[in-house]
Amino acid sequence: MSVQDRIRYTSLHSHLMSAAQAASLIPNGANVGMSGFTGASYPKVLPQAIADFARAEHAAGRPYKINVWTGASTAPECDGVMAEAHAVSQRLPFNSDRIMRQEINNGDVNFIDMHLSHVAQQAEFGFLGHMNVAIVEVVAITEDGMLIPSTGIGNNQTWLNMADKVILEVNMGMPIQVEGMHDIYQNNVLPPHRSPININRADDRIGTPYLKVDLNKVVAIVESNAPDRDNVFSEPDEKSKQIAEYIVDFLSQEIKMGRLPKEMLPIQSGVGNVANAVLAGLLTGPFENLYGYTEVLQDGMLDLLRAGKMTTASATAISLSAKAFKDFVDNIDFYRKRIILRSLEISNHPELIRRLGIIAMNSMIEADIYGNINSTHVMGTSMMNGIGGSGDFARNSFLNFFVTPSTAKDDKISCIVPMVSHVDHTEHDTQIIVTEQGLADLRGLAPRQRAKVVIEKCAHPDYRDQLQDYYDRALHTAKGIHTPHILTEALSWHEHFLKTGSMKM
Ligand code: COA
Repeated sequence: MSVQDRIRYTSLHSHLMSAAQAASLIPNGANVGMSGFTGASYPKVLPQAIADFARAEHAAGRPYKINVWTGASTAPECDGVMAEAHAVSQRLPFNSDRIMRQEINNGDVNFIDMHLSHVAQQAEFGFLGHMNVAIVEVVAITEDGMLIPSTGIGNNQTWLNMADKVILEVNMGMPIQVEGMHDIYQNNVLPPHRSPININRADDRIGTPYLKVDLNKVVAIVESNAPDRDNVFSEPDEKSKQIAEYIVDFLSQEIKMGRLPKEMLPIQSGVGNVANAVLAGLLTGPFENLYGYTEVLQDGMLDLLRAGKMTTASATAISLSAKAFKDFVDNIDFYRKRIILRSLEISNHPELIRRLGIIAMNSMIEADIYGNINSTHVMGTSMMNGIGGSGDFARNSFLNFFVTPSTAKDDKISCIVPMVSHVDHTEHDTQIIVTEQGLADLRGLAPRQRAKVVIEKCAHPDYRDQLQDYYDRALHTAKGIHTPHILTEALSWHEHFLKTGSMKM
């Protein structure tokens, strides 16, 4: 099959060009909306061409940087190459690429860390500025000019609606049989004219399988042939397995107590190794007929679908290891019936998360004894990846879990601290904290009661006495003791780590 065969709207054939030609159509300073979500469906060849173009412009003494808006993270061959060429001025809303992270943390890139469900609507409200160019990966263009999306949707429909010019990448390496898996619902009506979004079950479909674009805006079509990022997971280690076990036991107990239906409620699982291990725990747990209503579908959820433990999974992207992706392609007819890919603003919509009663599980960097959560900043100042959808899900969920090993960096860092060095999720949002030491159920507890449970259940033994000592002294010295703190000491653990390389005092 040639790329022309995948562009069934034949009058678009004349727009086929090289990536270098397409990149030269993007002016310095442009706001560029790209496809891309957690290593899936990002443009595969344009970013390198943009990086080359930027280098040539810089060598000629001309400035060249663009602002890059995506759904979430991309890959080294997208964020990485553009960051390396110093081709990016502003980046939003999420990044996990190492080189882009360096550019963000050394101040060369302005990173806007947003709740993912906010991005499309804030762009439509005009809060983020005008969009000049959209670059969107698709697998094919239909006879009537509709776009068959690839492995992720993210904010693509919004970018296609907003951009002055559209560049499409047709990825020949992506299976054409994904057609029909997507459910695109146009939700771009502005307040006060919005109406309810009619999804009442995780597997409801309310849109069409295609992205729409005004074909007059398409200025270039570029062929690519490359897989998504290989999202390799390490085998769950003992700590992750222990965390998973606590969660599975807790959920079983909630069912016994009649607080959860026997088939549970739809599950959201965050990014990272621990989150994937929790899904592996559900595979062997006593649950059947599960539903996924999540942002990104990782290997663990594919395993649940294959094993028949999960009935349907709804997400905005499929982000798999190369091994799991092969299984996905080999059994695509099976998975197409069981996976629904939606726009990011629908997968993460607070209205739907609240209505469906999602069980949210997200990893974190650190928690404090009162339940405030830091998901994004190392030692309070360096950006890791971003808040992603963790806030969308945690605040609006039926139940939420925040998980982490109790220590990091060979036990030199305690992930349970007196006060978090940055707050992403406040104590008001946090319900359950889990480490390999135990599970702290904070529902219905006041701050002093929470501190007791968090220290007892979640802290690593090396730090438990140190935390208890801080808390006891705060209780006896603070003026107001609703939430006891010693303000001059609250962040001293982080300071001590920066000075000595360890939080142990
Ligand atoms: N202080 C400093 N560094 C810490 C730390 C802490 N308290 N806790 C963890 N780290 C480091 C680890 O040492 C590791 O470093 P390395 O990359 O140099 O090995 C890194 O952070 C990742 O930690 P890891 O334990 O492997 O966790 P993970 O892969 O599960 O990722 C987050 C954890 C928090 C970074 C990740 O889940 C994230 O970005 N979350 C925010 C977005 C989100 O929740 N999205 C989901 C919504 S769908």
